[in-house]
Amino acid sequence: MMPGLGAPVESSKSIPTGPDTLPLLGHLVPLLRDPYSFVTAMAAHGDVVRIRVGPLKLVLVCDPVLTDRVLRNDRTFDKGGPIYDRAREVLGNGLSTCPHDLHRRQRRLVQPAFHRSRMPGYAKIMIDQTASVAGAWHNGQVLDVLAEMLTITGRIAAVTIFSDNLPTKTQHEVIEDFSTVVGGIYVRALLPPPLDRLPTPGNRRYHRANARLRRTVRGLIAERRATGVDTGDLLSALLSAHGLDARDDENLSDNEIIDQALSFYVAGTETTATTLAWALCLLGQHPAVQQSVHAEVDAVLAGRPATYADLPGLELTGRVVTETLRLRPPGWWLNRVATTDTTLGEYTVPKGTVVVYSPYLIQHRPDLYLEPEIFRPDRWISAPVSHPQRAEFIPFGGGARRCIGDHFSITEAVLALATILTRWQLEPVSTRPVRATRISVSARPKGLRMRLVDRALSPTRH
Ligand code: HEM
Repeated sequence: MMPGLGAPVESSKSIPTGPDTLPLLGHLVPLLRDPYSFVTAMAAHGDVVRIRVGPLKLVLVCDPVLTDRVLRNDRTFDKGGPIYDRAREVLGNGLSTCPHDLHRRQRRLVQPAFHRSRMPGYAKIMIDQTASVAGAWHNGQVLDVLAEMLTITGRIAAVTIFSDNLPTKTQHEVIEDFSTVVGGIYVRALLPPPLDRLPTPGNRRYHRANARLRRTVRGLIAERRATGVDTGDLLSALLSAHGLDARDDENLSDNEIIDQALSFYVAGTETTATTLAWALCLLGQHPAVQQSVHAEVDAVLAGRPATYADLPGLELTGRVVTETLRLRPPGWWLNRVATTDTTLGEYTVPKGTVVVYSPYLIQHRPDLYLEPEIFRPDRWISAPVSHPQRAEFIPFGGGARRCIGDHFSITEAVLALATILTRWQLEPVSTRPVRATRISVSARPKGLRMRLVDRALSPTRH
């Protein structure tokens, strides 16, 4: 048994406060200046450290075993806190935002949508959509990498959720409305409540998009219920979770289905886009690794489009994705709320405490990873690459609230990367380090631009 997961520890100590706290601001300044250095530095001050971000009092868990305990004990450490409160206004009680008492039922009803048997169909959409976006690029073009990756993953999400037999106009509207609503969630999470009700253009746009999106999805649900056809998309999977009868309490209601569809889009689009953007950034900084990935996709695909069956053969591409998720986990800082007085290690944690766990911090601990700052896909050679399930590798969280889209997104990232790199080589346009932005669901590579080289036209094709 892992230390710390056994019998409860006799606890009475109060949690130490991180150093250099300022009146009113607490740790806000160093956190905003360099969040990665801030969280990794906290590990030197204890397994559990108290920090203050303006008025918010938080407890940061720095130890992998205690992080695992928080994740596995989802009744005591439940979803909650200011961001979840705001997200629930939009996503309702979808799978990612619902509290513990609603979670088991939802997970059981939603799980079939991610069943392995549906993956080859989703994979085809991932490959086709990536090829369509990357096919419009041209040699020498300087890409806004994250924007392009968001286009790819946004289209993949819309088509995997609603299939591509939507009329083109409706598909465009759905993608546009999703992005407006998602953008609105983050802005509104930062606004004090009276401001989010003002009739500003931003608030009006947000409400319009939210209303139209819900109308569209409700119409699609009615259509599907009437025909009873499973079109292989996530919406069909949600509808057929327990038959198509809306009157059955065991089914997801229409509103719940809309909340789930929104949750998939919110939880899956930016996270996967960010992973792809960082992977391309890291490959640009490590041309020898990019060359090896080119050699792998050439050998495995031999110029034809990828399929789901190619995943095991794209072994190095898979390790690049895994190492990117270690080095730049999109969800770098996530939180729970203690629902009762409890303990973490030797410390007392009172009810109501906001507890933060950080995949970034854990995955940069030098006692867990040799030279953690270095991008080294080979460190995963002897590990099960597609699904490492370890307390020290937590880009998808853990326990009952572990990401339901983990296999889906790894499939998406590997197949999208292979599809892009079959045709393109990406080079950095600047030697300046790429920093991460944070006012979003994930840590995005700030201002990342890369130059495209068409491999077919490159004199040194590799
Ligand atoms: C690289 C891509 C992704 C990463 C890094 C990621 C990461 C995560 C993490 C860390 C959590 C747990 C959050 C917490 O502990 O508070 C989570 C939950 C979740 N993710 Fe993902 N995710 C990714 C892609 C996706 C995709 C593609 C989907 C859906 C299509 C998805 C749907 C969800 C849902 C619904 C939950 C809530 C699960 C539950 O509470 O039962 N994610 N994800």
